[in-house]
Amino acid sequence: MNGFVQRIEQNRETHCSAEEYQHLYRRSLEQPDAFWLDQAQRLDWFEAPTKAGEWSFDPVDIRWFADGTLNLCHNAVDRHLAERGDTTALIFEPDDPADDGRKLTYSELHSEVVGMANALKAMGVRKGDRVTIYMPMIVEGVLAMLACARIGAVHSVVFGGFSPEALAGRLVDCESRFVVTADGGKRGTKPIPLKTNVDAALELEGVTVEKVLVVRHTAEDTAMKEGRDVWYHEAVSDADCPCEPMKAEDPLFILYTSGSTGKPKGVLHATGGYGVWTATTFHYVFDYEPGEIYWCTADIGWVTGHSYIVYGPLINGATSLVFEGVPNYPDHGRLWDVVDKHGVNILYTAPTAIRALMREGNGFVTSRDRSSLRLLGTVGEPINPEAWRWYFDVVGEERAPVVDTWWQTETGGVMITTLPAAHDMKPGSAGKPFFGVVLELVDNDGEVLDGEAAGNLCITQSWPGQARTVYGDHDRFVQTYFSTYRGKYFTGDGCRRDEDGYYWITGRVDDVINVSGHRMGTAEVESALVLHDKVAEAAVVGYPHDIKGQGIYCYVTLNAGEEGSDALHDELRVHVRKEIGPIATPDHIQFTGGLPKTRSGKIMRRILRKIAENDFGALGDTSTLADPSLVDRLIEGRQNR
Ligand code: WT7
Repeated sequence: MNGFVQRIEQNRETHCSAEEYQHLYRRSLEQPDAFWLDQAQRLDWFEAPTKAGEWSFDPVDIRWFADGTLNLCHNAVDRHLAERGDTTALIFEPDDPADDGRKLTYSELHSEVVGMANALKAMGVRKGDRVTIYMPMIVEGVLAMLACARIGAVHSVVFGGFSPEALAGRLVDCESRFVVTADGGKRGTKPIPLKTNVDAALELEGVTVEKVLVVRHTAEDTAMKEGRDVWYHEAVSDADCPCEPMKAEDPLFILYTSGSTGKPKGVLHATGGYGVWTATTFHYVFDYEPGEIYWCTADIGWVTGHSYIVYGPLINGATSLVFEGVPNYPDHGRLWDVVDKHGVNILYTAPTAIRALMREGNGFVTSRDRSSLRLLGTVGEPINPEAWRWYFDVVGEERAPVVDTWWQTETGGVMITTLPAAHDMKPGSAGKPFFGVVLELVDNDGEVLDGEAAGNLCITQSWPGQARTVYGDHDRFVQTYFSTYRGKYFTGDGCRRDEDGYYWITGRVDDVINVSGHRMGTAEVESALVLHDKVAEAAVVGYPHDIKGQGIYCYVTLNAGEEGSDALHDELRVHVRKEIGPIATPDHIQFTGGLPKTRSGKIMRRILRKIAENDFGALGDTSTLADPSLVDRLIEGRQNR
C-alpha cells in the first residue's frame, strides 16, 4: 500500500463503490455500446440514439450517438423546471464581498436564458453561426453559452484576460460575426476593460464582426458604436424561444487552445457526446447529491469552466457557484469565506491556487469554519505531494477526499481520477482511468510499455467527450493528435504507471508549457517576441516555478546594432502582454548573442531548458552544436539563479 491515503467512508449513499467501479469499468470496455447507451439516458433526447460510438483513429473519423437529437440547453435548464424549478441553479459571488451577489433558481435561469437567446436572435444569430463570448465571470457569461446552445449557435468563449490581438486572432479564425461582452470586469482591485479591448480587436485586420452585445456590469462610461453595438438590457425579450433540435454530432462549441506549433487551435466539441461525457463524469467524480453546493473556481474561458461550471453541473440539476473574483482579495482567506457564506460542499480548484494559498500560512484557512466541505478536487497541472497534503490535511481536515482529475481541452471532461468512494488516493497521482478510457504508455519509438513503466501517454479507444476536429483544419487535428503514434490519440503528456496501476502525469513532453494551469505554446510566446522590431530571434522554454508550476524563460537575440538593457527587458515583457495577455508575461528574459543550434540549424532546446532550470551540470552531449563555446556564455548570462 505504498503511498496510499485510505479512501474516506462517506456517511451517505455513495454513487460508486470499489466493486461497482471494477464492474462498470469492465463493462465500459467489453460492451461499450450498451454501456454508453445506458449513460446517454442521463440526458433527455428528442430522438433517442440507437447507436453509441462509431469511430476510427486511422483514418480519423469520430461519431457518437449519431442518430440521436437533443439540445443541451434543454438538458441543462428546461427539463429541470417540472421537478426542480425552485432549486438554486446558480449562485453568483461578486469580486467585492461588499457587493450584492445573486441566486437564480432553475426557473429564473430559464427566463434569463430565453431573454439572452432572444437578444442573440434579434442581432441576427442563426443556427450554426459562431458567437464569440468575451466576458467577466458573471452569470451573463453562462447565459450566453446556454443561449447559443439553445438556438444552435456555436459558442467560442475567449478568456477575458486575453489581449485585443489574441481576441482578434480567435475572431478571424472562426469567422465570427457576433461578440457578447460586458462594459468591463473586475478581478481583485484590477479593472478589466473588456469593451475597450473588443473595440480595439475589431479594428484589427481580418475581423468580420457585425454586432456586439454588451452587458452592463461595472457601469463605467462605455462608447457604443451606432449600428454595431447593442446593450443587452435593451435587447432582451421574453418572447417564446424553443430549444432547437440538434443532431448529436452538430457542433456545440469551439475553444482555442495552445499547441506546440503555430497559432492556437480551435478545438471543436459536438453536442451529444460532450453532453453525455460531462454529465456522466460530473455525476461520478463529484458524487453529487441533490441539495449540495458545488463550486469550481475556474473561468468559463477555459474548458474546466465549460464542463464543470456550466454543462456538467447544470445537466445534473446541481447548484453551481460562479465566482467573479480571485483567491487573494480582499485577503488570502477569500475562498474559505465564500465556502462558509454559501455552505459549499464540493470545491474544485487548481494546484497553482493551492500552492499560492499554502505559502500564506494556515491562519487564513483555520480562522474560517469550512465544515461544509465534503469533497475537494484539483485540475490543470500536476499537484506536488506537499500541496496535495496541505489541501487534504489543512483545508479538508482529513475529512474530505481529494480527486486529482487529469484531462484536457480535447478530452471534454475528466479522463483519469480516483472516485471518492471507490479508490484509495495517492498524493501526486491522478489515479485510475474513468469508464471507457483505455490508456497506453508508449516509448519514443512507439513500443507499448506494459506494467510499471514511464512513457508517452496515449489513448487507444474513442470516448464520447472527445473533440471531433480542429475548426476549419481537420488535417491539423489528424497531424497533431494521431500522427505521432498512428492509430492512437497522443495526449502530449509524459506519464508513469506504478505497481498499483495508478497514473502519475509528469508534464508535457512537447513544446507546451503549463503556467498556473494555463496552457501555453512556447512557439506563441516566441512569435510574439519576434514581432518586436528589435528582436531577431527568440527561444522560449518552461522551468520549474514554486507557485506557477512552470515559469516562462525567454532567450532573445537582438537585431544588429541593438543592445540588451533593463529598459528593453521591460519593454519586451509589456510587448508580450499586449500580444497575448498577462498570463504570457515572461518571468525571465536573457539576451544572448546566439541560440544553441545544431549544424543543420535546429535549436537545441534541451540545453536551453537545463540552463533555465539552473541545472547545467549535466547538459548532455553538446558536440553537435555549431558553436559549442556559446553554451558557456549562456550559462554565464543565466537569469534564474
Ligand atoms: C494539460 C491540458 C483539464 C482542464 C484544464 C487544463 C495538464 C491537466 C492535470 C492533472 C497533471 C494535468 C496536462 C494536460 N493537466 N490536469 N490533474 N495532473 N497534469 O486543460 O489547458 O487543455 O491543458 O494540462 O499537461 O495535457 P488544458
